Amino acid sequence: MISDAGLDDTIYHFLYRSNASAELGQDQIDAIVDEARQRNAEMALTGCLHYEDGLFFQWLEGPKSKLDEVIAMIRRDPRHEDMTDLAYGPSRGRQFGDWTMRSTNRDEASLLEWFANHEVSTIDRGAYAGSIGAFLMAMN
Ligand SMILES: Cc1cc2nc3c(=O)[nH]c(=O)nc-3n(C[C@H](O)[C@H](O)[C@H](O)COP(=O)(O)O)c2cc1C
Repeated sequence: MISDAGLDDTIYHFLYRSNASAELGQDQIDAIVDEARQRNAEMALTGCLHYEDGLFFQWLEGPKSKLDEVIAMIRRDPRHEDMTDLAYGPSRGRQFGDWTMRSTNRDEASLLEWFANHEVSTIDRGAYAGSIGAFLMAMN
């Protein structure tokens, strides 16, 4: 039997993909990540943001109420659009406990190469979401 306190502490995760509104340079990505890290530290959120070929892939995790609050802010951010939700739900724990926001790019690891090497189908939605999750998990 899980106590109410235990339920309140449940860590939720959110995974999405979006299109950057404009081609972004590393300094603009760094500005987004700095902003994210400041608020995430206050909100007890952790995660990873990958940017590649004009696409963002983000894994964000933390207490549900804080996570939901920040997801709503991210949805309204004009620096990206066409947000596609890939996963949301309770987690067993944190994947990026040491990172207020890990930031990765294609120079560090390429999602396209990962897809090619793992023969990932981008048509099967479940497999696609799972593979992006697995790719980001390899960054922690
Ligand atoms: C791709 C992307 C990822 C972001 N990730 C986070 C995040 O993890 N945490 C956060 O607090 N803000 C994040 N932000 C920034 C928020 O969207 C931004 O701080 C907020 O929309 C600003 O709202 P305000 O202008 O009302 O303060 C992200 C923005 C973008 C474009």
